[in-house]
Parts: sequence; structure tokens; C-alpha cells
Amino acid sequence: MSGRIPQQFIDDLISRVDIVEVIDARVPLRKAGREYVARCPFHEEKTPSFTVSPDKQFYHCFGCGAHGTAIGFLMEYEHLDFPEAVAELAARVGLEVPREGGGGQQRQEPDLHAVLQEAAAWYRRQFREHPKGAQAAAYLKRRGVSGAIAAEYGLGYAPPGWDHLLRALGPERRAALLAAGLSIEKSGGGVYDRFRDRIVFPIRDARGRVVAFGGRVLGDETPKYLNSPETAVFHKGRMLYGLYEARQAVRKLERLLVVEGYMDVIQLACHGIRYACATLGTATTTQHVQALFRLVPEVVFCFDGDRAGREAAWRALENALPAMTAGRQARFLFLPEGEDPDSLVRKENQEGFEARIEKAVTLSTFFYDQLSRQVDIGSIDGRARLVELARPYLSKIPRGVFRVMMLERLAELARLDRDTLEAVLAQGQAGGLRAAQIPARRGKGRQLSLVRQAVTLLLHAPQLAAEAGDPQRFRALALPGIELLIEMLELLQENPQFTTGNLLEHWRGHSHGAHLARLAREPQPLGPEDMAREFAQVLARLDRQRLVQEIEHLSRQPDLDESGKARLKALLLERRKFDDRPL
Ligand code: UTP
Ligand code: MN
Repeated sequence: MSGRIPQQFIDDLISRVDIVEVIDARVPLRKAGREYVARCPFHEEKTPSFTVSPDKQFYHCFGCGAHGTAIGFLMEYEHLDFPEAVAELAARVGLEVPREGGGGQQRQEPDLHAVLQEAAAWYRRQFREHPKGAQAAAYLKRRGVSGAIAAEYGLGYAPPGWDHLLRALGPERRAALLAAGLSIEKSGGGVYDRFRDRIVFPIRDARGRVVAFGGRVLGDETPKYLNSPETAVFHKGRMLYGLYEARQAVRKLERLLVVEGYMDVIQLACHGIRYACATLGTATTTQHVQALFRLVPEVVFCFDGDRAGREAAWRALENALPAMTAGRQARFLFLPEGEDPDSLVRKENQEGFEARIEKAVTLSTFFYDQLSRQVDIGSIDGRARLVELARPYLSKIPRGVFRVMMLERLAELARLDRDTLEAVLAQGQAGGLRAAQIPARRGKGRQLSLVRQAVTLLLHAPQLAAEAGDPQRFRALALPGIELLIEMLELLQENPQFTTGNLLEHWRGHSHGAHLARLAREPQPLGPEDMAREFAQVLARLDRQRLVQEIEHLSRQPDLDESGKARLKALLLERRKFDDRPL
């Protein structure tokens, strides 16, 4: 095996491993804010200056300058070469390292789907075939799950014991079972079944293929639920349980309800509410929200009414904001204390539960209620503070009608007229720019630095790429570094889960690699909201430049034909928009 390791595999690997776990296993880390710290393993020190960022998947020592990704850390710390470090990490997540020419990766995927499919069918049969199957079926019955719904969602039973699945599917499937997360490898080398004596819930992707399972114990044992680990076909941050089934059951979906648990989805379905889906024990991500709004114009998030529920709802709200374009509606439904959708729909039936859905509060109501609680809205100071609290959130909402309406509501609450509010918000943006001291306005250097600023911001906050529009439009600009910027934007738009670490590994060994590593090490000058604003401004300037360039080109043509004139007019109009913006 000596071919090159495909870049795709490295990208995927970096997305899958967690640098915090990798390092913590070797150098115990302590949480400090959003990052983790320790005394640096690469130089002598008394106070910790070694920091690891889970968001960026990157470590950096402020003392000695050591820095890198999970791969880089293993290379330094364990003195491994690059392929060895990759192999070590791959083993952690149960992947085999493919080599170019070897085709391991292409063969792997269909295998995973097949083995997951077979496992699902086998689990389903165990209700009848295993001696304890009747007991498992009785558990579901006791919880009020109908046979029809259990069949539709493909519920199954994983019997107790250690190697039933392995034996049923055949020992030659061992590698596939491991890669699919269905078997776990023992330190001695053998394998055993992950799901034992549990009701299993197959998790299906958009095409209906089984990609993972959730499993619930029949009694009070812990953990109550087990989920498949992340695998080549299963990414929790994107997947929603029950979405495929909802699309199958409802011909024209108009609304989706997001709940917390497998059983909530199942029980709602049993009561005729066929449009519920659940996150998989994680917070609602922007990717989840985007996936939901691609299917329906209205999403209702359902949470417990307690403090934890409100906090989870607030996180969902934050992650929903970037997806709130015109025509989309997000609402929040809070349940009475101690209830979940499962228990409530059993008490109140479809009508009662749907009546609650109708009364769910809008995103804007929930948002301003939460913020208003933190200030004294009756005082001038309190209202000023409200504007400041709202500002970073509003900047996450894409331009459009929804954002305008959110601003209008804020103007009302703050008792400002719209123009004054806009002026105040714009002022703050200019202030943010100054504070950041980005050297953007230095005569000739400015063109280069716009691209460089964009690259640096993306490196620190890769998620910004999602809102950047079509990167190819910048190609006309012919600025130094523009190719790298375009490539980076495209890579990130295709891989929204990418972190700083992914970017660095992607360009490892390329001429840009060292340059990027240097930029990543520079402390990030801005908070997340400021970075988003800053990035939008940099792109707007590039866009404006692009327009100016083409306008100049067209105006210089001696005899422009009709279509040329129309194009020029359109460009002039488009440029006006940039000039009117309160940037
Ligand atoms: P809950 O504990 O609210 O589950 O967890 P539930 O759906 O009400 O469970 P029942 O009614 O007792 O069967 C909600 C979700 O959190 C994840 C699962 O995805 C679950 O559906 N979870 C919970 C875990 O991943 N592990 C756990 O141990 C518990
Ligand atoms: Mn429950």
C-alpha cells in the first residue's frame, strides 16, 4: 500500500475526529471558556499557554508557537510521520485508510448501506424469532405504539448477548459491521455487538437508506439511549430522525415539527401527527434548519417548558437565524413542565396537541421576549441596552423582508424610528471596523488585503462561506490570491462542517499551506458576530470592485449594442445597491 492518501479522506477524517479527545488522551486538558488549556507538552512552562480550540480543531501554544491540527499534534507528540498519524486517527474512528488507485473508499460505501439494511431487517425479525422478542414487543405495546407505526418506522429488537449480529450476518462482514458502527472492537482484537437488549430505531437518510440506529433499554438501565457513532454514512449534525418517514407519510408537507426524542416522533405518529422529526441527542444546528426549510416553509421547534428547554430553544433560535430568509417561518412551542410530546399527545390526542402547535410563539416574539427580560424596557438605558443585545443576532439574519420586520419590531420596542435605529446599528458597525484595525485602507495594498482579509476570516470562521453566494463571480477580479479564495469558498460550501483544521490539512504541502498556518495562528481580532459583519463587508467591497471593473470596461466600448446597454444599466443599478447599503 503505497499510493497517495486521497485528500477527500483526510478532509473527512479531520471532520470526524475531535482534536480535544485526541490531545486530552495524552495531555489532560482543562476547559477554559470555549477552549481547552494545558501546560504545553512541547516546552517547559509553569502556567498553561497551550490552548486547543474545538471549534477550529486546531491547537496553538502562545509560549513556544507550536501549532497544528490533530494530525500535526500526533506527528509532533508521538513522533509519527504523516501516513502513520493518519492511520492512528483513522483507527480511532474505525476507518481504513484508502490509497489512491486502491479504491478502498468506493467499495466501502455500498457495503455500509447493505450491512445496515440487513441488520435492520434482522433486528425487526427478532421480535418474533428471539425468545425475549415477545417481551420487547410488549414493551412497545405498553407504551402505546401501534404495530403499523412500528412497522413503518422499522423498529426492531437487538437481543441480549455479544455476537448475535456478527454471527447472523456472517464473520466475513466484520469489517463492514465495524465501519457501520454496529460492532465494537475489543482491545484484544475480537468484536462485539454495539446494541444489546434494546429496542432499535433505524435512522434513515433522505433516500430512505438506513444509516444508523438509536437503541433504548427496556427498563431503567443506563444509558437509556445509545446511538450509532459517526460513520462514513452518518453525521449527527445533519441527520434528523423521522424526516424520511414524514415525507413518505404526508404527500405535501407544509410544516415540520422538531422534537427531542425518538419516542416523541413515534408517539406523535401513532396519534396522527405525521410531520415530526427529532435531532439525535444534539442541539439543533444550522444545517438541520437549512435541511428542514428546504422541505417546508414552516418549522415548529418543540421544547420542554423548563429552564433547560428554554436554553435549548435559544440555541436553536441562534442557529436558525442564518436560515431565516423571506417566506420562512420558525415558531417555538413550549410544553408544560414535566411533559414531553410523547406524554402530552397521549393525554390530549391529535386535536389537543395541534391546538398547542397553533399557539406556538413566533421566532420574533420568543427572541424579543427573552431579550426584554434582561433589560428594563421602561427606561432609556434599558431600551438602549436592548438594541445592543439584539444587534449581533440581527446581523446573522440574511438581508430581506424577515430582517426588515425584525428591525421594525426592535424600533417599536426601543421607541426609535426606523431611520434612527438603522443609523445606530450602522454606527456600531463602523465602530466594530475601527476596533478591529484591519489594515484595509492603505492605498495600493488594499486590493491584496481585501482578498487576504477574506481568507483570514474564513480560516477563523469557516461557516461564513455559507452566506457568500457563488464564488465563481469573483473570478473576473484577477486579484492576487483570488484563486485561493474561490477554491476555499467552494470547498467550504460543499463541506459546511469544515473547521480551521480541515482547511489547514487540505492545503498541507501546497504552496499556500504555510501561509495559511501563519494566518490561523494570528489571534483572531473579532468576536463571531463582528467577523460575520466584517466578512459581509469585505465581500461587498469585492463585489463592488467587480461591478466597477465591468462598468468601466463596458463604458469604454465605442458602440455598445442593445444587450450591452442593458447589461450596463443592470450593472449600474446593482452598484447603486452597494452604495446605498449602510456598510
Ligand atoms: P429523553 O430522555 O427525553 O428521551 O431524551 P425520551 O424520548 O423522552 O425517552 P423515553 O420516553 O424515556 O423513551 C431525548 C433524546 O436524547 C437522546 C436520544 O436521542 C433521546 O431520544 N438521548 C437521551 C441519548 O442519546 N442518550 C440518553 O441516554 C438519553
Ligand atoms: Mn419520553
